Amino acid sequence: MNLTQTTDVHIIGQGSIGALISVNAQHQGYHVQHYVKARTYTESAGTKSASTGNANQPTPVTVQYLDQQTYSLPPGIVLNDHSRLTGVIIIPVKAYQVAQVLAELKGRVAPEATIVLLHNGMGSIELANTLFEDHVIIAATTTLAGFKRDKVVTHTAWGETQLGIVSHHTLCPHQAIIDDVLPGVTWHDDIYPALYTKLAINCVINPLTAILNVPNGDLSASHLHDDMHAIIHEVVEAARMVHVELTPSDLFATVLKVIHDTRDNFSSMQQDIAHGRKTEIEHINGYIVNVGRRFELEMTRNETLLEQVLAMEEPANLTVDQL
Ligand code: PAF
Repeated sequence: MNLTQTTDVHIIGQGSIGALISVNAQHQGYHVQHYVKARTYTESAGTKSASTGNANQPTPVTVQYLDQQTYSLPPGIVLNDHSRLTGVIIIPVKAYQVAQVLAELKGRVAPEATIVLLHNGMGSIELANTLFEDHVIIAATTTLAGFKRDKVVTHTAWGETQLGIVSHHTLCPHQAIIDDVLPGVTWHDDIYPALYTKLAINCVINPLTAILNVPNGDLSASHLHDDMHAIIHEVVEAARMVHVELTPSDLFATVLKVIHDTRDNFSSMQQDIAHGRKTEIEHINGYIVNVGRRFELEMTRNETLLEQVLAMEEPANLTVDQL
């Protein structure tokens, strides 16, 4: 373990991906700071801390790593008017939380800091560039995986990360840190093909597993293939509108491979529906529907999936994932 590095790594929230990155960053010797919402701290305060017995401290999030070790995350703090974030700021939150997080970060990020967007779905790059027009902004997609129950994150796959700069900059001053803290990093001059490929994977797997209430592996059944082709065809059309060329047959093969590789897992959207939480559907299939509206293209299959999942969200009981 290299304990000489001190550059800050700021992680928004304490979700499973953020928690896993945090443990790795600390292994690499970086100082990590998590940020949580004020109410998260308040709700937890009074819960006796497992490690200190201090009744004023919230119970820490713990991570059960693939190496069988258990780690505790440093306590999260709340962004305030004195916050000034330097170094690398990683935003691994639900797609529907990104806009609010970016708004809260506005004015609190040092000019030399790098912002890393790391979430399922699309739609936040434009906003990040509007709010942080001088900053280096990275968009990333990762197959690092885990799930969180109560305050315990279980690590299930180490994974790989593809990323690229999506602001007007050509160089990222924090490339070495990002290479250290994210798993299996590949940098792309043009990250959009990778982002649209991940979007296609999510457009197929997430709503179908949520609607059918099945693990990912059940989608390999051949009677679902025509439907998967139809969904992918619309994603390819949407990508073409923004000059991203994808090959439908390659994309179909990639989706089938992810279904196979994650066959025992339940997708994030299946879990969200199963636990009565808001889903990321509006940033996944909903994103394709919006591109279709903008370019006057019919996105009927993605639109139906969007409506079906929204109908399953049961607004009366809906809980929104906390940071
Ligand atoms: O959202 C998810 O669950 C994941 O991105 C994926 C790749 C669909 C695997 O479950």
